[in-house]
Amino acid sequence: MKKIISAVLALTVVAGVAFAGGAKDTSNVALNKDKPLVFFNRQPSDPTTGAIDMASMNWNAKTYYVGFDAAGGGAVQGKLITDYLAAADAAVIDRNGDGTIAYVLCIGDVGHNDSKARTEGIRRALGTWNGSTDPTVKKEGSVTVGGKTFKVVELEGKAMTGTDGSTWNANAATEAMGNWATKFGRQIDLVVSNNDGMAMGCLQASNFPAGVPIFGYDANADAIEAIGAGKLSGTVSQNVDAQAAGTLQVIRNLLDGLTGADVYSKGFTAADQYGNKITATVEYKADQKGLFALNGPVNAANWKQYTAGTRDAGIKQSTAAKKKVLLTIYNSADNFLSSSYLPALYYYAPLMGIDLTVVQGDGQNEASCLDKFTNFNNFDAFAINMVKTNSGRDYTDKLKY
Ligand code: BGC
Repeated sequence: MKKIISAVLALTVVAGVAFAGGAKDTSNVALNKDKPLVFFNRQPSDPTTGAIDMASMNWNAKTYYVGFDAAGGGAVQGKLITDYLAAADAAVIDRNGDGTIAYVLCIGDVGHNDSKARTEGIRRALGTWNGSTDPTVKKEGSVTVGGKTFKVVELEGKAMTGTDGSTWNANAATEAMGNWATKFGRQIDLVVSNNDGMAMGCLQASNFPAGVPIFGYDANADAIEAIGAGKLSGTVSQNVDAQAAGTLQVIRNLLDGLTGADVYSKGFTAADQYGNKITATVEYKADQKGLFALNGPVNAANWKQYTAGTRDAGIKQSTAAKKKVLLTIYNSADNFLSSSYLPALYYYAPLMGIDLTVVQGDGQNEASCLDKFTNFNNFDAFAINMVKTNSGRDYTDKLKY
């Protein structure tokens, strides 16, 4: 009897619920291991092969990933660049007139699926893809510039790891660009970056070769402004609003007890019970348990559409019951997450009755996030952006108890 009483007491303490008059009711108490868990932006996967970590994705029936179509985005970025070159003046682009278009590449994080997909998309478009995302493996390609065919060489590709070990580092890009400009001089005809943070970093180099086309990815506000000012040639929108709203919508659906296809269709392809529906297309892929937003090219022709903000009018204030969500961000200094994703989350969360608690890491040590991934009984659901894409288990292990 003593054992039973202490077991009931332990459960009550775990759930953090006290009932008036000492009565105990554990029937509606969710255990942490049964709560919704949504990974976003950094897909649980093998940093080397890119294979999806389905063990983490199958942690419980309420585990999902929300991101964007990385392979499709790589192709959009590649086409953005080749379209630009096709319409350009060859005499201006080939700066030293050697008949070769030479470019440098800011890779970002070699162990991140988004980064891998962009490197592949760019190299495929320019013909330098050699079947590997290894920065050192590439081949000579070809491209059309202003009606003429040119050889293409990738002079150098660099991951851009900061002195603190963080990835996608803009300062590292400034430094690398400075070195490239000194080392390669007028050989450089094109600069390509797998994100806007690093592209803007390149533009900060005091010896950036003025007028050389430069492309980023993300459509952060400062990059859009730079396109308007003629400094950046193009970027790709990964539709941050659809992703941020989508992350919260999946959580909302799971918290409302939806199951099966309702989890990824309510609020996406059909209105949810509150009348909310994300306007952009977000595709569900069952084999990855993931929802993926589509990408769009942004350049001098359409950048204005992105200046007024892209908040989705399909998400309106609802009467949804307040729920508490603990959300991690791998690096408080990441340009995309801090300047684009977080503001979008903060915009949509209150409209969906979600009370967000955000904890942020240093982009280098998983512990910087994991140590703050705690007090689970205070939360109804979890959203995770890991430092390393293969750390899913470190988070799910903590939810076991
Ligand atoms: C973005 C990068 C960002 C990274 C963080 C990517 O999808 O394009 O800018 O640094 O996510 O995980």
